[in-house]
Amino acid sequence: MNGVFDFDAVLDRRGTGAWKWEFCDKVLGDPDIIPMWVADMDFAVPPAVAAAVAERAAHPAYGYHYVPPSFWEAIVLWLKKRWKWDVEREWLLRSPGVVTALNLCLKAFTQPGDGVIVQTPVYYPFFAAVEENKRTLLRNSLRFEGGRWGMDFEDLERKAGQRARVLVLCSPHNPVGRVWRRDELERLADICLAHDLLVISDEIHGDLVLPGREHVPFASLSEAAAARTVTLIAPSKTFNLAGLSTSAIVASNPGLRDRLRREHHAAGLTLPNIFGATATEAAYRGGGEWLDALLAYLAANQDFAARFFAERLPEIAFLKSEGTYLALLDARALGFDQKSLNEFFLRRAKVYFSDGSLFGDELLGFERLNFACPRPLLARALERVEGAVRTLGRDR
Ligand SMILES: Cc1ncc(COP(=O)(O)O)c(C=O)c1O
Repeated sequence: MNGVFDFDAVLDRRGTGAWKWEFCDKVLGDPDIIPMWVADMDFAVPPAVAAAVAERAAHPAYGYHYVPPSFWEAIVLWLKKRWKWDVEREWLLRSPGVVTALNLCLKAFTQPGDGVIVQTPVYYPFFAAVEENKRTLLRNSLRFEGGRWGMDFEDLERKAGQRARVLVLCSPHNPVGRVWRRDELERLADICLAHDLLVISDEIHGDLVLPGREHVPFASLSEAAAARTVTLIAPSKTFNLAGLSTSAIVASNPGLRDRLRREHHAAGLTLPNIFGATATEAAYRGGGEWLDALLAYLAANQDFAARFFAERLPEIAFLKSEGTYLALLDARALGFDQKSLNEFFLRRAKVYFSDGSLFGDELLGFERLNFACPRPLLARALERVEGAVRTLGRDR
């Protein structure tokens, strides 16, 4: 137990339409597979959120929803308290999801053919957003040196010179788990200013910062940074609300905001979801204590996994994250090509990870592990992986 919240309790999500679990059963064809892929958590939402949604659901009319001023105020207060970021109500727009918002931003701020820089390996819907909108994808590969991922600023300068209009920042970064430091972001901001780049800053993981780190909102660095930045935030990763399709956009620059608002209208995306709006407000108002307990639990889960690999499975390197609940497994020493590696974990260990190479070629031979689950489940998954690796010597 973490205080009053029991994150150890195994929550059976089978049969609830949970994509993370249904996929193993219905698509991969084996209900015994432990899912450690898509970024949602096997934890119940904060009690305040469950209560607010249940209360609203109990009234049986689900017509168009009015978003009250208290909704906006809850977001402003949250960002001030947790991110130390002063945001004004007028700077905020709603969006069903962060990926939706990213697509709208690209349409609003760029033309077909314009260069859009992404820092790979990265959350792969970034690639689709750029390419399906017929913009030009410019990959600024992160560097992995001394067991740590960092930005390649020289390469970024070169890419910025190639008709680039926008940088899509992922902060904290999925999947490498970096919580970018202020000095790194300042150097990035200098380059964006020098090359007149707009920044779409996906900060969906901004609350999921493990002890000892601090999330610095990119737009909070300076007036100049804020003027060229649109920040995408959401309660969905933080509080496990991804199924409620709710997120927000922060833009202090009125010109950028207007262009974005027009794009929203053009796409017909103006109406809120009752449960998303209700849950967002309840989470930001009443979820702080739960989140603190969650972060402590996630950090302990990560330590548990890191120790497990170090002591029992040194063939696989577990790369600890500073933020998010996603970590990388460097399984290159097992000697498989990517497809065989995926199959090995899936069919031999019966654990389904995210294929590292989907995030970029930098992660060939890697898998991404989601450790946001009760520790007994995490332990079972790791023991299965250990058992599978032990069979390898015998087969080869
Ligand atoms: C960096 C990042 N952005 C966006 C999303 C998805 O956001 P949404 O479900 O709001 O579209 C995720 C989900 O894992 C993510 O990791």
